[in-house]
Amino acid sequence: MHPHRRKSIRNWFIFAGLSVWGLLAVSCVTTERAVVAPPQIPGAKYVGSKECAQCHTDITDHFATASHARLAATGSNAQETGCESCHGPGSLHVKAGGGAGTIVNPLKSPETCFQCHLDKRGQFSLPNSHPVLAGQMSCGDCHDPHRGSALPESATKLTRLNESCLKCHTHQAGPFVFEHEGLRDGCIACHEPHGSVNAKMLRVRNQNLCLQCHFQEQAAAGKLLIGGRDHASFVNRGTCWSAGCHEAVHGSNVNRSLRF
Ligand code: HEC
Ligand code: HEC
Ligand code: HEC
Ligand code: HEC
Ligand code: HEC
Ligand code: HEC
Ligand code: HEC
Repeated sequence: MHPHRRKSIRNWFIFAGLSVWGLLAVSCVTTERAVVAPPQIPGAKYVGSKECAQCHTDITDHFATASHARLAATGSNAQETGCESCHGPGSLHVKAGGGAGTIVNPLKSPETCFQCHLDKRGQFSLPNSHPVLAGQMSCGDCHDPHRGSALPESATKLTRLNESCLKCHTHQAGPFVFEHEGLRDGCIACHEPHGSVNAKMLRVRNQNLCLQCHFQEQAAAGKLLIGGRDHASFVNRGTCWSAGCHEAVHGSNVNRSLRF
């Protein structure tokens, strides 16, 4: 998709040269991310984020608003908690005036993120997952590490989350004559963004996916109402989106009930 993202060899080289991890406990971290190991670059030392501002003001100017800026500690022993927590120690890069292969670029490898978000490697290893480990896309395609919240859905408008998915998945974009209002809650109402054991990265593999929002009602004698219609004879035929049912689950141009 993006040819320049395939040039991962150089960064793998950097990672292959790993020595002992510099372990650093981030005490403000609450959960399982208690131990943090920033990426290493053989022969390089930490110089602190101020150095980066000499040449990358487009990024450093806004970094204070970024989720990860909260991790940055102050003091001389805490230099590695800023830019270099993701990019590795920068002394060789700075000395070379930005020389090629002297700094880690996470666009080319997610390893730097896994140092702190260990659980994510597992999610991307699930049988149905976004091809991040295969190098076809990167964490940075969905998360902005430099500015504002790193979480796609925290934008003021819910539609922003959908946009971050729709830039690649244009078929689900519509516009449709008959929209499915369920999409207004974001694609992640139904899909795991990283990976899932279920086909199509669905959060739930059966009708409970839909029953999150569409309630079923046990009416008189063997009737099962969903959306005001008797579904008693349908619900054992497969999923709600099986062939012949609500196949056009993202929206339809021809059928109000999203059947095709
Ligand atoms: C003396 C100027 C200078 C300083 C200081 C500097 N950089 Fe750079 N950096 C550059 C240049 C020039 C490039 C190449 C830009 C390009 O090709 O688009 C670059 C590229 C990068 C890249 C992309 C590398 C790649 O392989 O794609 C990253 C990441 C980066 N810098 C991070 C940092 C960090 C973190 C710091 C602070 C530790 C820093 N830089 C300090 C000049 C600098
Ligand atoms: C949470 C991890 C993280 C932190 C912290 C971080 N970056 Fe990055 N950086 C990334 C990722 C991911 C990419 C690749 C995706 C992108 O370009 O947005 C990147 C890319 C870059 C690039 C290359 C941009 C380009 O257009 O090729 C530069 C330069 C850079 N970062 C500098 C910095 C500086 C300076 C800081 C500190 C103010 C910083 N980064 C802090 C994760 C981080
Ligand atoms: C040095 C450790 C470290 C590295 C490296 C790191 N993270 Fe984080 N990240 C954290 C911690 C700790 C938090 C929780 C921050 C908080 O809640 O204040 C976090 C939070 C996040 C969040 C949630 C943000 C929010 O607003 O709740 C996302 C998304 C995220 N990281 C993605 C990434 C990505 C993508 C990378 C690689 C480019 C990365 N992280 C690299 C430590 C790290
Ligand atoms: C296809 C888009 C996409 C990609 C690629 C992606 N993420 Fe996410 N990520 C999301 C979305 C959407 C959420 C919000 C999920 C939610 O709120 O349920 C999220 C949430 C997170 C969170 C915070 C919540 C949590 O589960 O801990 C972290 C941390 C995170 N991602 C890290 C990463 C890392 C690391 C990578 C790369 C290895 C990555 N993400 C790649 C879309 C993506
Ligand atoms: C940078 C591009 C990109 C972004 C952004 C992106 N995806 Fe994907 N998505 C892919 C690729 C590549 C695949 C692998 C299968 C393919 O080639 O379609 C995929 C696969 C999927 C699949 C499984 C498709 C199947 O047929 O099994 C689902 C579901 C999905 N993505 C949902 C999402 C959601 C939800 C978001 C937003 C949180 C999102 N994607 C963001 C590129 C992207
Ligand atoms: C109401 C639940 C729901 C929502 C919300 C939803 N999807 Fe889906 N999506 C599904 C189901 C169910 C399937 C499986 C369809 C199948 O297997 O025939 C699916 C399949 C997919 C696929 C695989 C290709 C296909 O069409 O079968 C992609 C890609 C996808 N969704 C992307 C998205 C994106 C992007 C969004 C947000 C704009 C989104 N989905 C929102 C339920 C949903
Ligand atoms: C996040 C909430 C949500 C989820 C999950 C959800 N929907 Fe919906 N759906 C809605 C809303 C809201 C409407 C519009 C109001 C209504 O008709 O109930 C709607 C409307 C519909 C309609 C059109 C009803 C009509 O005849 O006008 C169908 C069909 C439908 N959904 C099927 C599904 C299926 C199948 C699934 C599971 C794959 C699903 N929905 C999951 C929220 C959701």
